[in-house]
Amino acid sequence: MRLLVTGGCGFIGTNFLYAMRARHPDWRLVNLDKLTYAGNLGNLRALEAEAGRQYTFVHGDICDRGLVARLLEEHQIDAVVNFAAESHVDRSIDDPSPFVVTNVLGAQNILDCARRAGTSRVVHVSTDEVYGSLGPTGQFHESTPLQPNSPYSASKAGADLLCRACHETYGQDIVITRCSNNYGPYQFPEKLIPLMYVKATAGEPLPVYGDGRNVRDWIFVDDHCRGVELALLNGRPGAVYNFGGAAELPNIKVVRTILRLTGRDESLIRHVADRPGHDRRYAMNFDLAARELGFAPGVSFAEGLERTIAWYRANPDWLAEVQSGAYRTFMDSWYKERA
Ligand code: NAD
Ligand code: DAU
Repeated sequence: MRLLVTGGCGFIGTNFLYAMRARHPDWRLVNLDKLTYAGNLGNLRALEAEAGRQYTFVHGDICDRGLVARLLEEHQIDAVVNFAAESHVDRSIDDPSPFVVTNVLGAQNILDCARRAGTSRVVHVSTDEVYGSLGPTGQFHESTPLQPNSPYSASKAGADLLCRACHETYGQDIVITRCSNNYGPYQFPEKLIPLMYVKATAGEPLPVYGDGRNVRDWIFVDDHCRGVELALLNGRPGAVYNFGGAAELPNIKVVRTILRLTGRDESLIRHVADRPGHDRRYAMNFDLAARELGFAPGVSFAEGLERTIAWYRANPDWLAEVQSGAYRTFMDSWYKERA
């Protein structure tokens, strides 16, 4: 297989590339990444050294039609997995425009170029956030209407609809995956779990939005990567597959667990102004993926969180490097407004 992975220098893309390299050493992997604030070339240094000609990094934008078309042709790409996106909800509230450009127009460009090149399959990596928010009961199914509430989730829903339209109109082989909240190694410390780890270890206040009772369904990143791999290999053309971790937890419980694991006191918790439009609860029904793909999350939240914290403890240089000037500019202004 000759696979184009976009956004491979981000959190999930990095984990996915390492997993594919380990499980399919005969695959040719091409990684197209713009290296935004969230992309880190250093993540893949070990893979680059080990994989030799089986791995190629290309610095570029998924919105660049000439570049994407050239890569598909030059590398005779069989399939594309599109991870590239602006991924942080808070940043989308601050400024939606890069989200629309990359997440909608970039996705459309991938679909158009793949169709013209005759690329056999596109796996579009989407999110449970396209479904909106749940009350205290129920789960999201693939047939749940899309009701995105943030600019981020609206842009992801826009791309999902373009995928659907390209499948219906042109008969293109496209599979959409929608996953719940990931955590694990290489996650950028703007997201809840690594951010709380960073704050706790520094002995700084931990900012919890609103009452902290918002619920997320946490999945260890390796399990999501396995789901995407299964969708790539065995997904039905035109299908949507939900993936989840079967680990629904209120944020406050996650934060307390991180404080316990880092040996810090709960007095560090600060309830701050809520995220505007904050979805109350997500819960994924992934029966379809279990039935058609054999998907099942394999890592419990307790085990996954311990592995994650062990990775951050072992990689203080990685953390220091990604918390650069650009990181601070957004974080300082966002949390100043919420204090
Ligand atoms: P991330 O922000 O860590 O990484 C995104 C990567 O995409 C970065 O390497 C960045 O440089 C790259 N990128 C951004 N714009 C680009 C562009 N125009 N062209 C090329 N590369 C570009 O994101 P993540 O958390 O790894 O998420 C990856 C994908 O999975 C996203 O599509 C996201 O919507 C989806 N997803 C994430 C989660 C989660 O919990 N993190 C859950 C479900 C789905
Ligand atoms: O559900 C899948 C989605 O999960 C992905 O599509 C997104 O790319 C990913 O960023 C993530 O979105 P969330 O908004 O759920 O993740 P985040 O880590 O930003 O927040 C998780 C929860 O924690 C959410 O309810 C908001 C809350 N939170 C977050 C931050 C950063 C806080 O209480 N305080 C914080 O400082």
